[in-house]
Amino acid sequence: MILKEFVDDSLKNNPELSKANLLKIIFFLSKEIKSNELLHLNINKEIDFDLKKANKIINKFLNKKIPLEYITKSFNFYNNEYYITKNVFIPRDETEFLVSNIIKKYKDVSNLKVLDICSGSGCISNTLQMHFKDSMVYGLEKNKTPLKIANMNKNKYSLNTIFIKANIFKWIKTNNMKFDLIVCNPPYISKDYKLDKIVLKEPKAALFADNDGLLFYEIILSNIKNILELNGTLIFEIGFDQKDRLINILKENKLTNYNFEKDQYGLDRNLYIKL
Ligand SMILES: C[S@@+](CC[C@H](N)C(=O)[O-])C[C@H]1O[C@@H](n2cnc3c(N)ncnc32)[C@H](O)[C@@H]1O
Repeated sequence: MILKEFVDDSLKNNPELSKANLLKIIFFLSKEIKSNELLHLNINKEIDFDLKKANKIINKFLNKKIPLEYITKSFNFYNNEYYITKNVFIPRDETEFLVSNIIKKYKDVSNLKVLDICSGSGCISNTLQMHFKDSMVYGLEKNKTPLKIANMNKNKYSLNTIFIKANIFKWIKTNNMKFDLIVCNPPYISKDYKLDKIVLKEPKAALFADNDGLLFYEIILSNIKNILELNGTLIFEIGFDQKDRLINILKENKLTNYNFEKDQYGLDRNLYIKL
């Protein structure tokens, strides 16, 4: 079967299947096609993957409403393929966009000590370690399964990332290491927010936070001096409607050197704070 025919038929026969999700399946199954560009270059060629397998994944995804990444046990982040299993948060495009901005901003700086708080699958820490080769990158995570997956992902690419098993709420008060760059994509959804059924297949500990979703920001910002070097930068991913409440938390902690940046969809989703 020709690739174009497969794409057209799959979208026509499965109206609930988005093109983005279909592409994820193709990128996962095909040995050659790993990007939109390659898809267009190969669109009139014979498919190089098992059609039955592709249809099986599509059916499982649509009928059982299991995230694609849990079915394929893989996700793509900043052009690399990583492992994932259930009980691990699935990295989002917005986080990939933030990481690409960080890589651009810091590409000429060397020997950084970097911390990724709430590291999950390790997508942020492992990507930064891959690009900042002479820096030391640490990932901090409370839960066992994400830590195991982050270490598998580190080993897949022979990286030096160091993963620490800790609860940030305790660790931030007792540790004595300071970092030049801290990145954190914490759980930030309010506990009464109604999420889609498919998102609720992801671990609750990765999604929801107390105090209207703000607890991680409150605790980290009130202890920022324990973990961030002078002139260092802490970067948060935040919820699209949290900017005003974050400005209040910054004020309460007398932090004045900060700026918000937008994500690729024009929403205020990144907060940069300097000490
Ligand atoms: C939104 S996910 C982010 C994962 C990853 N950084 C990413 O961007 O895909 C938040 C992560 O924080 C972890 N977590 C939740 N509470 C924590 C705590 N108190 N201390 C450390 N990690 C925690 C969760 O297990 C989850 O892996």
